[in-house]
Amino acid sequence: MKNLPLIFCGVFFTIAFSWTGLILTSQIQYGRLERATASEDETTLYPLQMSGAAIRGKDVYIAQGCLYCHTQQVRPRHQGGDIERGWGQRYTVARDYILQERVLLGTMRTGPDLADIGTRQKSDEWHYQHLFDPQLTSPGSVMPPFRFLFEQVPVGETVRMDAIKLPADYAFAPRPGFQWVPRQEASDLVQYLHSLRLNYNSPESRLEE
Ligand code: HEC
Repeated sequence: MKNLPLIFCGVFFTIAFSWTGLILTSQIQYGRLERATASEDETTLYPLQMSGAAIRGKDVYIAQGCLYCHTQQVRPRHQGGDIERGWGQRYTVARDYILQERVLLGTMRTGPDLADIGTRQKSDEWHYQHLFDPQLTSPGSVMPPFRFLFEQVPVGETVRMDAIKLPADYAFAPRPGFQWVPRQEASDLVQYLHSLRLNYNSPESRLEE
């Protein structure tokens, strides 16, 4: 084992170089990033804090594996067609993620990028229909239905505002006298989707016309 010091040095420098490159350099470059105003005459700091419901919704998003099919990162024009596809009004930068403990950038794009879904799709009704059965809003979609995030409750005196509107003769129509309504998880998840917005200027990336 006369090579032991050499092996030790090799292992030590491999780990030290990786740590410097991956952790220390990122910390020096991004560690002190803070929230910023969108323009000089504005006082609101972006990114905005998420509401409690949106924070719970993020856990649902993780638990249901949405991030295996959806990314949350918009590339600049010279790196890809994200902005042409309408996935963002500007590209994302490190500052957009500083409030997030777990950043859900995602790796696969079976579905569209969701970094700006909050400005693209504002309707609760659309989201509920789409989560209940993607075929209702997007025929031919390969996104799975998340019907277990909904429950059937008696119609009673009034139809609930958030009851899903379904076509006649629909295969998963509620039992007579019942309506499908979102469970807490579904409504939290939709609040989370509403919170995903790239509709403000950042010092590193400005909204495109
Ligand atoms: C198997 C892959 C897959 C999974 C898992 C998945 N999606 Fe999708 N998603 C898609 C595809 C494909 C589309 C595009 C067609 C459509 O609108 O349904 C889509 C579309 C969407 C859209 C509309 C995007 C737009 O630009 O209009 C939203 C919002 C969405 N998904 C949210 C979710 C959420 C929330 C979850 C987790 C509960 C989820 N998706 C899980 C594949 C997936």
